Formats: sequence, C-alpha cells, structure tokens
Amino acid sequence: MLEVHDLYQHFVVRHNPFARFHHPDHVVKAVDGVSFTVTPGEVFGIIGESGSGKSTLAKAMLRLSLPTSGNIYYRGRDVLSMDTSEIKQYRREVQPIFQDADSTLDPRQHVGAILEEPLLIHRIGDRAERWRRINAMLGQVNLSASFMQRHPSELSGGQRQRVAMARSLLLNPRVLIADEPTSGLDPLVSTQVLALLLRLKQEHGLSLILISHDLATVAYASDRIAVMYRGRIMELAGGDDFSERAAHPYTRFLLGVERRLPDFPMLEGVHEHIHQTQEQCSYIHSCPHHQRRCHHASASLQEISPGHFVSCHAVS
Ligand SMILES: Nc1ncnc2c1ncn2[C@@H]1O[C@H](COP(=O)(O)OP(=O)(O)O)[C@@H](O)[C@H]1O
Ligand SMILES: [Mg+2]
Repeated sequence: MLEVHDLYQHFVVRHNPFARFHHPDHVVKAVDGVSFTVTPGEVFGIIGESGSGKSTLAKAMLRLSLPTSGNIYYRGRDVLSMDTSEIKQYRREVQPIFQDADSTLDPRQHVGAILEEPLLIHRIGDRAERWRRINAMLGQVNLSASFMQRHPSELSGGQRQRVAMARSLLLNPRVLIADEPTSGLDPLVSTQVLALLLRLKQEHGLSLILISHDLATVAYASDRIAVMYRGRIMELAGGDDFSERAAHPYTRFLLGVERRLPDFPMLEGVHEHIHQTQEQCSYIHSCPHHQRRCHHASASLQEISPGHFVSCHAVS
C-alpha cells in the first residue's frame, strides 16, 4: 500500500548566537535510513520519544516535504516524483490527521464550511450532494447536524478532533496518517477519539498509520509497531512480539522492563549529536548492553523471527 524505502531527512542547524552554550553548525538526522511497508487495512504504529523524527517522517509520507534521499511508493507509484495533479490525487487518497485540530481548522469558518472545502477543491457533487455527505459524515463521527453552524472555538478538543476526522474521511481516502491524534486531549476523551478512529478505519477499510509518543496508545491499537529512536527504526514487530518478546534495549526501556543509562542532556531543544560519531549506534549512551562494536557501527535491522526485526548488536 505505502512503502517507505531507505528514507533520509537531514537538517543543517546553524549555530544560534543567542544560545547559552556554543553550538557549532551541525546536521540533525531527523530521519536516518528508514524503511517499512504498510499493508492494506492494517494499523501500523510508530512510537518514539519527542524529537525521534516521527513528524518529519509523516510529512514526507504526506508529500508535505521532500526528503533528502530515499523513496516512497504508494500502490506501486513513486510518490516523490509525482507532478502537481498526481500529488492532488495522492493527497485525496492519503489523508492526515494532526495532533492539534485547533491549528488546522480555520477559526473564521463554521464547521459546515470547513467540511465542504475539500469537496469543493476536488469538485465533488453539487451543493445538495455535498451537504448530504457532510451530514452523513458528521453522524459517523458522532456529531449532530447542528455542529455545522458552530465555529471551532465553540467546540471541545475531542469535538474538534472529530471534525478533523470527518474532514479527512469525506474524500474517501485509503490511508490515514494520524500524527499524535490524541495528544493534548484528556485521557477519557483521548480513549474515545482513538476508539472512534479505529472504528472508522474498520468501517472504511483503511490503512492507518498511527504515530504517537505514547506507548499505551500505539500498543493497544496497532497490528504492527515500529520503534523509532533518533531517526532510526530500532525494532519492528507485530503486536504480540512487541509486548511479549521485545528485544531492543530501547523498546524494553519503553515497556518498563529495562533501565536506561542517563543520556546527554537536550540542549536548546536539539539533541546533542556532537559526541556521536557517524557510525556508532544512536542509543549507545543510554544502553546498558553496549559492546565494543556498537561504537564502530550501528546495527542494521535484522529479522530475528518471522516479521520481527531488531537493530541491535547485542540481540542479533
Ligand atoms: N525544519 C527543521 N529544521 C531543523 N530541524 C528540524 C526541522 N524539523 C524537525 N527538525 C528536528 O528533527 C528532529 C525530529 O523532529 P520531529 O520529526 O518533529 O520529531 P517527533 O515528531 O518525533 O517529535 C528534531 O531534532 C527536530 O528538532
Ligand atoms: Mg511530532
């Protein structure tokens, strides 16, 4: 369905003259050689702490940015070399849901107009047909038709996220890419929004890429899970392997079955990459199992059992 192949997104970060510590120009490897394939109908979870490159990866998959190198294929078509009209069609089939529906819903428009916009852009139906679709879609996300007259500021966070879901689904996409869809919501609302997202995914027969820094969210909902750390996939496993046979020290730390050594501090919001050489494992400073060879070469993803991939010298 959606295949990411050896994707890299590197950013050059210039020295900030107002920074408290001197920082030479350096390269942030936001996405550093990531490959995976999402199959039709599956929930593919991506977990990783803040700054691990999840949103950068999502933006590349949504064709909102062009990566440094690598390939993305959607149903066999090369996403990164699409022309404008192909991108328009692609964006209809691969829809985002972002964390903060607040900032993606136009505050000046009422919900009816917000939901009509994608249909207008793609010239779908006459006015009556569009309103029929919007009405039906509001029902699917458990909002009454009266919400059409309301403005985003009059909605709760959970209601706004439902409107965002309705907007994404109105174009009948095949893939949803949800980047932290429940972050910032109360726990109860977050559970409801996630349950609704999974129900809609099922009803519409979609593939869902579910991105979160929250282990519980991803572990509960996903068929397969990729664990990202500093731009790389450390482990990729089916739900059961993930929760019962997690092998990477970082995954095991996330699951609470392993400790982690104190890492270098975050400086100015950017990970300290200076003490890290090109080749070594990015988890080396936190890893209780690091070996001599981890300093010289990071491990590549190896299949340790069918469908269970781990990138760690101490494991493979
Ligand atoms: N446009 C950019 N310019 C420079 N650095 C960036 C840019 N976008 C993201 N980064 C950096 O890339 C890394 C990954 O960021 P991001 O993809 O947002 O991570 P996540 O979504 O997992 O929190 C971070 O170190 C972030 O500061
Ligand atoms: Mg993010």
